[in-house]
Amino acid sequence: VNGRRLSPDGPHISGSDRGLTLADGAFETMRVHGGRVFRLDAHLARLTRALDALGITRPTDLGAAILDVLTAESADEASLRLTVTRGPSGAGVMPVPNVQPTVIVALNPRPQFSADMHEAGIRASVASGRRNERAMTAGLKTLGYTDAVLALLEARRAGAHDALFLDTDGHCSEATSSNLFACLEGTLVTPPLSCGALPGITRAVVLELAARFGLPAVERVLELGDLAGADEAFLTSTLRGLAPLVRVGPHAIGRGEPGPVTRRLADAYIGLVVRGTEPR
Ligand SMILES: Cc1ncc(COP(=O)(O)O)c(C=O)c1O
Repeated sequence: VNGRRLSPDGPHISGSDRGLTLADGAFETMRVHGGRVFRLDAHLARLTRALDALGITRPTDLGAAILDVLTAESADEASLRLTVTRGPSGAGVMPVPNVQPTVIVALNPRPQFSADMHEAGIRASVASGRRNERAMTAGLKTLGYTDAVLALLEARRAGAHDALFLDTDGHCSEATSSNLFACLEGTLVTPPLSCGALPGITRAVVLELAARFGLPAVERVLELGDLAGADEAFLTSTLRGLAPLVRVGPHAIGRGEPGPVTRRLADAYIGLVVRGTEPR
């Protein structure tokens, strides 16, 4: 925290830190493999965009802070979260000038998703609330994840693993912490960022892989009906990679099992992360 190494259960930040009191900050979750962060530059660029939008001065040494932690912990396989808040300040919502941002680098074991989720696929419910594509924070990875928490609790009550958000016009947006892809008649479709989806790093990698495979891929508005009628669908995120989506609400997608396009792209993605190789 701010360059100091602290025990995970010790005190970390001030109780008046605006990240805690107002969710006033941004973060990135990254995947560490072989002691290196996959697509570090893309993560830092996305964080910089969020900090610029929030008017938080970007601490200059974020890359070095990450490297220090990776070296000190000899981390090989891990998940790394970089959080930057506006910093501690008194009561009130208006930011006061000259507050020192708080920088937190947290290294954790990479979560093990049940093999079932990758082999049998994910079932998603449709969240009762909407992703607001017109929100001032749309597309920014800010600290406010309360909607995602509520949607996940709702999903669990419905017997689903995750929840899908529609935007305020009723178009598919994304899942609670992943982007959405559908395979429709041989074309890969992902909702455009104008539907409130986060510009996912994994989403961008999948679009790159599709281009290399000669697989038609487009960013276009996706209706729930299109998704329900898709041949295949999958969710993408840094920690999950590509996870097959086999059911949305009451509808099975395709045959209700992971499909060949998803498997091919998922393997190629793992190849990029783990072996650092180019796809065949
Ligand atoms: C809301 C949301 N959408 C999408 C994603 C996927 O983004 P990425 O592939 O960069 O992890 C995340 C990641 O945590 C997220 O929180």
